[in-house]
Amino acid sequence: MLPSIPTVAVALLGATTVLAQDSAPQCSLTKKCPKETPCCSQYGQCGVGAYCLGGCDPRMSFSLDSCVPEPVCESRTMKMENTDRIVDASKYLGDASKADWVAQGTPLTHGGNVLLTMPAHSAGTVLASTVYMWYGNVKARMKTSKDAGVVTAFILLSDVKDEIDFEWVGSELDIVQTNYYFQGIPNYTHSGNITDSSIKNTNTEWHTYEIRWTPEKIEWLVDDKVGRTWEKSKTWNSTTNQWEFPQTPSRVQLSIWPGGDEKNAKGTVDWAGGYIDWESEAIKKDKYYYATVSEVTIECYKTDKAPGTNKGKGYTYNDAKGTNDTVVDGDDNTVLKSLLGTGLDMDKDYPKDPSESSATQDVIPGLSGGGPGTNGQAAGGANGGSGSGLGSGATPAGSSPNAACTDGFQQVCGASGDQNNGARSDRMYGASAFAALVAVGAMLWL
Ligand SMILES: *[C@@H]1O[C@H](CO)[C@@H](O)[C@H](O)[C@H]1NC(C)=O
Ligand SMILES: *[C@@H]1O[C@H](CO)[C@@H](O)[C@H](O)[C@H]1NC(C)=O
Ligand SMILES: *[C@@H]1O[C@H](CO)[C@@H](O)[C@H](O)[C@H]1NC(C)=O
Ligand SMILES: *[C@@H]1O[C@H](CO)[C@@H](O)[C@H](O)[C@H]1NC(C)=O
Repeated sequence: MLPSIPTVAVALLGATTVLAQDSAPQCSLTKKCPKETPCCSQYGQCGVGAYCLGGCDPRMSFSLDSCVPEPVCESRTMKMENTDRIVDASKYLGDASKADWVAQGTPLTHGGNVLLTMPAHSAGTVLASTVYMWYGNVKARMKTSKDAGVVTAFILLSDVKDEIDFEWVGSELDIVQTNYYFQGIPNYTHSGNITDSSIKNTNTEWHTYEIRWTPEKIEWLVDDKVGRTWEKSKTWNSTTNQWEFPQTPSRVQLSIWPGGDEKNAKGTVDWAGGYIDWESEAIKKDKYYYATVSEVTIECYKTDKAPGTNKGKGYTYNDAKGTNDTVVDGDDNTVLKSLLGTGLDMDKDYPKDPSESSATQDVIPGLSGGGPGTNGQAAGGANGGSGSGLGSGATPAGSSPNAACTDGFQQVCGASGDQNNGARSDRMYGASAFAALVAVGAMLWL
């Protein structure tokens, strides 16, 4: 018998739906956030507080130092026996020593493991590591979810949207999908599947998935066996004169998300194996879809000189290029005093008397049914720029129509998704990003 979702969490799901503001991306490479809400979240929305923590894109924010410094890598073995080291995004201020993971959605404990749950019509659950890895190895022992439209992911994602992925579609449990992105730039030739006679059903079998990432190459392993390798040497772009290879400090993210939600674009749904059946046997029996995680190990990259060090307290960027040579491993504070703070004003506190403030501010970013990571969202530039991010979390995907189809995304939203390209574009753009508006007063009660 699986544990049930606590009533308080159910109540919050409902509340967030009401509070959730649906909106097109507000920030992109060509449209930075304004000074009052300087931080551009992973989901392309401007705000303060948690918007300035993990996922804050310095290139799209008011200034490079609007985002809070990223806690540097610390090697950790995280036994996922309970949720003690998992903190909800509404309660995290940037102190990586106090928690291993920041959660959106509903992680639960069961049988000595952590379940990432996705109740009917919800956007699922995402856990993001509190520390950032600048190269290194990360390993997760887990069982994926199942059924068409249900996607499980284990990824590395940097704040400038370098990304390395493992993904599983719930209707193809013998295929381990892998991918990578440089700064969120889509390139559909980069995906690759791992299959092996030892991988028959990722939902019922425990496997250990591992990403080994160095400045020279990425290796994806299943049960200690290399399933795919991608070398930096293959990624030179002579037009832009850069290596289009993931190279910036990244958070580990584990998630379950509704790729097959009816509100997602058709290409997304097709890629995810079809529409989700929210009245399936699994939902009737367990009340939610879930992935199971038993242990995650982060092993930081070992080096004395950049790139890839972990000597200081926080990583920051000194240039909007967002390449490895623009990362600074420094000693700046990573902890906000309150969710009203930003990288520009780390010590901003709540008002003494909450009744004095009736203003609402965006303090917790990005919940949608679009899945984790950027999955190749265009990082702006040539096609007019994009801040369309894909989030996942506590808010029902149903409250999130295709907002991304407005505001200059027309051509992509029209894509039919009848080929891999289309599928991926729809997937990227079809999921809208939006922010939960949380009253400052209400925050004090959380
Ligand atoms: C990986 O497998 C999926 C599901 O069968 C398929 O749609 C996709 O084309 C495959 N990708 C590659 C690169 O072979
Ligand atoms: C995609 O990546 C491949 C190999 O990394 C490269 O050869 C190709 O030109 C890229 N395509 C685009 C559109 O960037
Ligand atoms: C290099 O980058 C340009 C501009 O982003 C892009 O159009 C082109 O396809 C890229 N070429 C390769 C080989 O990746
Ligand atoms: C950044 O990465 C490139 C390619 O891997 C490497 O040649 C260069 O030395 C790195 N720069 C720094 C500052 O680490």
